[in-house]
Amino acid sequence: MATHLLSLADFSREHLTGLIASGLRLKADTKGGKRHTELAGKILGMIFEKPSTRTRVSFEAAMYGLGGQVIYLSGRDTQLARNEPLKDMARVMARYVNGLVVRTYGQEVVEELARYSSVPVINALTDRHHPCQVLSDIMTIIEKKGPVEELHVAWVGDGNNMANSFIQAASVIGFSLTLACPAGYEPDPEILAAARNIARRPITVTNDPAEAVAQADVVNADVWASMGQEEEQTARLRVFRPFQVNASLLAQAKPDAIVLHCLPAHREEEITNEVLEGPQCVAFDQAENKMHIHKAILAALLS
Ligand code: CP
Ligand code: NVA
Repeated sequence: MATHLLSLADFSREHLTGLIASGLRLKADTKGGKRHTELAGKILGMIFEKPSTRTRVSFEAAMYGLGGQVIYLSGRDTQLARNEPLKDMARVMARYVNGLVVRTYGQEVVEELARYSSVPVINALTDRHHPCQVLSDIMTIIEKKGPVEELHVAWVGDGNNMANSFIQAASVIGFSLTLACPAGYEPDPEILAAARNIARRPITVTNDPAEAVAQADVVNADVWASMGQEEEQTARLRVFRPFQVNASLLAQAKPDAIVLHCLPAHREEEITNEVLEGPQCVAFDQAENKMHIHKAILAALLS
């Protein structure tokens, strides 16, 4: 049976830390000029119903970097746009390709594709989760700061797909996490409750950004309005203003704290230009690591 990657809660600690270790190894290999051919002869299908720069290009580069090939489809170019059932799409695509990377709106879409697909389905962002991104974020944290289990991670902003995946990562891998979100924009209570059930370190939600970053080794920012929430943008700008990651908030974290942003960033909204371009921000190394972790994911699931 195919192993799918739909959310980080579907995996064990050993599995996730193994993927990160493999991402770090593949990165070192790539930097050392070593060529990989693990996925020679394999084809990856990618179906994206939302825009993407990093995730699309890093998955494509990862697949080519492992010797494989890619077929990219924007959702509107497929019969999905004309309501072909997902279960038919999944069974047909699985006859042509060895794995499917999907970016869409509902988590139920990737779940339905996975139910009917005999090849692995990988979630490249839904409204509910962004698991591959958070794996590359943890890889970046480990690379910069050492064992993540010993660190305190802060999330400042929306309780969105990224926040949900961070909560699952914190519970499965075992690091301490505080999320500061405006009232009414906290993360999904079911995801939080399930995560707390298995967590070995505290996962805390507050409405106070200063409380979240106090003693933080890592400060995370993300957009205030995610893809699909464009019409809420103006209202959110007002509500989220106190949650901006700026120099004065960052000064309340540990002096050697690093700042993560999965990008794209809206400068002077969720993060100031000063912080994004400043010495503590590792967003561009984080973006690079997407390609290395995607290699690890593809090698593990498609081999
Ligand atoms: N971080 C991220 O997923 O970026 P893209 O939307 O450009 O893929
Ligand atoms: N939360 C953001 C992440 C973008 C990579 C969104 O869903 O738009």
